[in-house]
Amino acid sequence: MPLFIITGANRGLGLEFVRQLSADSSNTIIAATRSLSRNLSALESHKSNGANLHILECDTGSQDSITAFGKQVSSVLGGSDKKVDFLLNNAGINYTPKQTSLTMTPDSLQNHINVNVMGPAKMVQVLESHLQDGSVVMNMTSGLGSLAYLRTKDSTDCTTYSISKAALNMLTVHQSIALKSKSVVVVCVDPGWVKTDMGGPGAVLEQEESIGGMLKCLRGLKSGDSGRFFQYDGAEREW
Ligand SMILES: NC(=O)c1ccc[n+]([C@@H]2O[C@H](COP(=O)([O-])OP(=O)(O)OC[C@H]3O[C@@H](n4cnc5c(N)ncnc54)[C@H](OP(=O)(O)O)[C@@H]3O)[C@@H](O)[C@H]2O)c1
Repeated sequence: MPLFIITGANRGLGLEFVRQLSADSSNTIIAATRSLSRNLSALESHKSNGANLHILECDTGSQDSITAFGKQVSSVLGGSDKKVDFLLNNAGINYTPKQTSLTMTPDSLQNHINVNVMGPAKMVQVLESHLQDGSVVMNMTSGLGSLAYLRTKDSTDCTTYSISKAALNMLTVHQSIALKSKSVVVVCVDPGWVKTDMGGPGAVLEQEESIGGMLKCLRGLKSGDSGRFFQYDGAEREW
């Protein structure tokens, strides 16, 4: 009975994780959404798919909200010692794609670091007791977080997003070291360029392919994979 936690589960790739995972009635899913006071019909529609689906509030840009979420998770699971098999830190923002290194602002950088880096860091902090031998933490990164890739792409856009995802990659390595003694596997995964609100209509990948590949990759991880950077199809990426 694997247990999955997914942040940003109300739309885009987070919702696709829920759609695919909810088809298996042996799964328990805790789907986190920024706010419960909104239209969550797309997410709620998966409650009848077979899996045990809980919908909880978690604003990953708010340390207080993440702390409250951690307490709710322990309550849903029936104790702070219960294992979370997969923590999928999916929620992310790219709010200022037109900002370049020549126009970037402190507000934008702070906002992107807060949601895209501090969010996944705090999630691991509050859920640490649930992360046990064999648990997997996945930080959803981006090709734009790869220094090696960006040098080939020669792109000036999405600067603060790109910096935040590079920082998330470094966070992944730090978390993998910090959780090594507990045999928790921490990886970052690039979903590819996918058709979502963030990816836009010009994207090349369907959500089904990206998330299907990612779940296969995550289920096949070994302890020696901790601290590595993959793309959705399981291929290793350059930092
Ligand atoms: N699509 C791509 O091509 C692509 C490529 C590389 C990486 N990624 C990464 O993949 C992840 C998912 O992207 P996506 O394409 O599905 O984007 P999306 O369609 O824009 O959806 C983003 C999700 O993250 C949630 N979110 C953002 N800020 C949040 C916060 N403070 N608290 C809680 N939830 C928050 C959103 O919730 P709201 O509805 O409340 O805003 C939404 O559910 C992101 O980390 C993104 O950087 C995507």
